[in-house]
Amino acid sequence: MNTTVIGLGPMGRAMSAVLLRAGHAVTVWNRTGGRAAELVAAGAVLADTPGDAVAAGDLTILSLTD
Ligand SMILES: NC(=O)c1ccc[n+]([C@@H]2O[C@H](COP(=O)([O-])OP(=O)(O)OC[C@H]3O[C@@H](n4cnc5c(N)ncnc54)[C@H](OP(=O)(O)O)[C@@H]3O)[C@@H](O)[C@H]2O)c1
Repeated sequence: MNTTVIGLGPMGRAMSAVLLRAGHAVTVWNRTGGRAAELVAAGAVLADTPGDAVAAGDLTILSLTD
């Protein structure tokens, strides 16, 4: 499944890692782009914009402060 995770705090990073391990395609976006580095190394794609991230996923998970 093509999934998108926006917000890479501890929860967003953990959910993204689980999705990758389960074999799903994962596109991520985070305000602070550096937080995506470990996930990108594990196979995630870092989108340039939130809109690009949403467009890439059949399912989008938001994991934000509020
Ligand atoms: N951690 C837990 O154990 C836990 C358990 C249950 C539920 N939750 C809930 O899960 C959600 C995420 O938790 P977390 O611990 O992963 O959160 P976190 O570390 O506070 O991260 C929050 C995320 O929101 C982003 N963000 C905050 N303000 C923003 C803004 N104005 N514009 C764009 N992005 C913004 C942060 O981006 P930056 O990286 O750029 O700051 C980060 O990606 C929260 O709603 C929390 O209540 C957390």
